[in-house]
Amino acid sequence: MEQEGFGIEVSRVAWSRKHVIGLADWSREEIQAVLAVARYYKESLRRTPAAPSDTLRGCTVLNLFFEPSTRTRMSFELAGLRLGARVVNFDREFSSLLKGESLRDTIRTLNAYQVDAMIIRHSLTGAPLMATGHTTASVINAGDGMHEHPTQGLLDLFTIMEQKGRIEGLHVVIVGDVLHSRVVRSDLHGLITMGARVSLVGPPPLVPPYFRDLGAEIHHYLDPVLPEADILCVLRIQRERQQKAYIPSLAEYTELYRITEERLSRARPGVLVMHPGPMNRDVEISAAVADSHRSLVLDQVTNGIAVRMALLHLLLRGEPDWIAS
Ligand code: NCD
Repeated sequence: MEQEGFGIEVSRVAWSRKHVIGLADWSREEIQAVLAVARYYKESLRRTPAAPSDTLRGCTVLNLFFEPSTRTRMSFELAGLRLGARVVNFDREFSSLLKGESLRDTIRTLNAYQVDAMIIRHSLTGAPLMATGHTTASVINAGDGMHEHPTQGLLDLFTIMEQKGRIEGLHVVIVGDVLHSRVVRSDLHGLITMGARVSLVGPPPLVPPYFRDLGAEIHHYLDPVLPEADILCVLRIQRERQQKAYIPSLAEYTELYRITEERLSRARPGVLVMHPGPMNRDVEISAAVADSHRSLVLDQVTNGIAVRMALLHLLLRGEPDWIAS
């Protein structure tokens, strides 16, 4: 049977990935496969939100969050449960890491419990990749340092596709603390692979020129770019990662970059606003915009579950039969 993913014909990609570390080396076909399976799960959740499927019956998924998280952690937990897996949460605060155990030894110990998937968030770039060498489980990166956050990237692609019906040819403007954002790196790889035009906007210290090498345009003023945007992705000012002052004053930042109703009145009428959360209301985005009809913030949260269900399905069970052969 031929299944269409948002109007795109999805062909069998012979899914071969065991781990999801970053979107940098993903093909368009792989992204399309995730979006198509996620669309299937979104539809099935809409029909029967509480009823779990039994796709992952007998599987154990371990949530290993070494950094704080609300949405990503809850969303992986709900995705696993709705696929019928057992989900176990690891609590850093009560773990032997605090007694000096290395991350490698923690991963090896947890691997001895024979789990099927480890979802890892860590402040160090490369921690999930390192873990793949010490476990037989599938590893999914839930955000590592300033590197990548591939499941956020995929749910952002899904949300854009759902709203606009395409990604190719759209102009996505990402504004804010690009330097410290792992979300932006995954968004950028995914968007460029899917044929979007991507502009990164922010003050020079927060938007380094090397992002041009990844296919992005760089701008330091928002107002000239805003009228050309189809999608505006707003990033949090990550104060906890700023060891030195990257911006001279927050007041100046908000003056130039905060997304307000007034600013949006000069954008295209159909422009939509995204934010991966957590939001600093009235810093990078005004409360009015965050709660407006243009805001996709809660759609992103809802879509996170379907996209993570799709990934767990593909990693642990392979492609579903209904993807075209
Ligand atoms: C982001 C993260 O932790 O990378 N949040 C998220 O997962 N939705 C962005 C952030 O911390 O600002």
